[in-house]
Amino acid sequence: MKGVSFLLLWISVVDLSTQYRYDNVTVDYVPRQLTEFKNEHPRPIGVLTTIAGAPVDIRQTVTLNTDIFSNMYHLDTTSHTDSERIPERVVHAKGNGAYGYFEVTHDVSKYTSADVFNGIGKKTPFFGRFSTAIQNKGGNELAREIKGLAIKLYTKEGNLDLLNLHLPVYFYRDPVDFGHFVRSFRRNPKTNIFDFTMTWDFITQKPDFLHAMLWQMSDYGIPYGYRRMDIFPIHTYEVTNKHGESHYVRFNFRTEQGLANLTNAQAQAIASQDPDYFTRDIYNAIANKNYPSWRLDMDVMTLKQATHLDYNPFDVTRLWKKGTYHTVTIGRLVVNKNTDNQFRDMEQVAFNPANLVPGIPGPVDIMFRARRFAYRDTHKHRLGPNHDNIEINFPIYRKTYTRDGKPPVRENMRDAPNYYPNTFHGQEPIIDMSYPKIRKNMFDRNSVDLQPSSEFYNHIVESDAHRQRLADNTAFTLRNVDRRIVKTTLKMLSLVDQDLGHRVAASYKAAQERENAAAKLDTKKRYEPLARCINLFTQGRLKWVD
Ligand SMILES: *[C@@H]1O[C@H](CO)[C@@H](O)[C@H](O)[C@H]1NC(C)=O
Ligand SMILES: *[C@@H]1O[C@H](CO)[C@@H](O)[C@H](O)[C@H]1NC(C)=O
Repeated sequence: MKGVSFLLLWISVVDLSTQYRYDNVTVDYVPRQLTEFKNEHPRPIGVLTTIAGAPVDIRQTVTLNTDIFSNMYHLDTTSHTDSERIPERVVHAKGNGAYGYFEVTHDVSKYTSADVFNGIGKKTPFFGRFSTAIQNKGGNELAREIKGLAIKLYTKEGNLDLLNLHLPVYFYRDPVDFGHFVRSFRRNPKTNIFDFTMTWDFITQKPDFLHAMLWQMSDYGIPYGYRRMDIFPIHTYEVTNKHGESHYVRFNFRTEQGLANLTNAQAQAIASQDPDYFTRDIYNAIANKNYPSWRLDMDVMTLKQATHLDYNPFDVTRLWKKGTYHTVTIGRLVVNKNTDNQFRDMEQVAFNPANLVPGIPGPVDIMFRARRFAYRDTHKHRLGPNHDNIEINFPIYRKTYTRDGKPPVRENMRDAPNYYPNTFHGQEPIIDMSYPKIRKNMFDRNSVDLQPSSEFYNHIVESDAHRQRLADNTAFTLRNVDRRIVKTTLKMLSLVDQDLGHRVAASYKAAQERENAAAKLDTKKRYEPLARCINLFTQGRLKWVD
């Protein structure tokens, strides 16, 4: 009798554990991860070993009053933790990785012979890395700054890396500005705090930056998650068909989730609770099989058109003017699998815009030429000279004469000849018929052109309400800036458009008055409006697009 009731109890426990696999208090997949692991592995996954593979005795897992230096388990654990960090990326340090595929939906063979973009229905796998640009590794994803989705497409003709940003224009066109840009948008060397005096001082000396900065200050500045933004690889790419005929194109990935954005107040409310919101959102969507996707369009210009324009179509700080190109659709990008190890994939992935394939000889502008060098250089520093041998970076097919060096070296081309040319049947080059017959050499003018900024403010920003939000967001960044720099900034904004200058000046003045009043308040009163916003948000009363 006793035996039977024991059995019954045991059955009901088993029953419970399968029925209630998750707490239903949340729709969030993120906190379920470990429970899911356990569900997939009903027993421990194996025997614990040292790094060298010896089984670990349970007595080695406690070290009090023992000879700790004879304990390999202890030495492994402590010594490896000491060296588990690698250098943080200089930009886009905070990221999140996922897999997906690109599918061709339209015939674009007259423009490019690239295998990845040819054959309707063809799917090419890729690894993607969502990121925020300026924050450090643990930073706030809700900050008003550039977001990205870099993708590495594993095509039959090698890896094609497209490094996309969520704004269609870039900040500068002279490669020498890179380091100064990064530092002036970041932390003050003494205070270690983000310092807009540095940022606006730099921009007013380098007005090229203004156009992208205005995009960033507008509604486009903070997308409502990585899923709700369009993305662009920025440059004008040269593409060639199988006859070696060139076209110039700009790629645009348009979100199929619907473009949406956050205001400063919304972003602050979310960030105060979840600075990893963007990562959580994309992880949950994928885990929920609600796969985010983007339609890939290509704006096309002929070589002849490109040489008869009143603007430089290769300039990454400006858009192409309406009426100077036509648009065709290529296919769809679908993200459908979370990585199961962020360090292995997301942290070790080494994107390089110079990774191009036959049929896409790529951009000709000077920024791109500089990037061909810079990415290789930074990956060498961060991951070592053999970063392309790391699994996530390895192409489907590769045979090179470069070998050896710091690990990983993989097969290292085994016993094949290690010099070229040779007569012993080492790997041989092809003749690529799509190789462009002539390559354009670009000359850039050094003059400052505020016209793209003015065009953006007056035509792309579609309403006065939006112009006001842009002005308010700009004024918000000016609130602690040195007065002299504020003056110069307002002057520069007025040169773009009188109305922009006036709006920002008025908003700045009002903000100063509010700040002055707030300075007299105690902390509680001062943060009350924000607290109210958070309350509305958590009670579900502050609603925005879904
Ligand atoms: C949890 O949600 C799932 C799916 O909606 C449902 O089938 C299940 O019965 C729920 N479990 C509990 C304990 O409420
Ligand atoms: C930003 O969001 C607002 C509110 O949903 C919407 O009206 C506006 O069109 C959006 N702007 C952009 C550029 O997406």
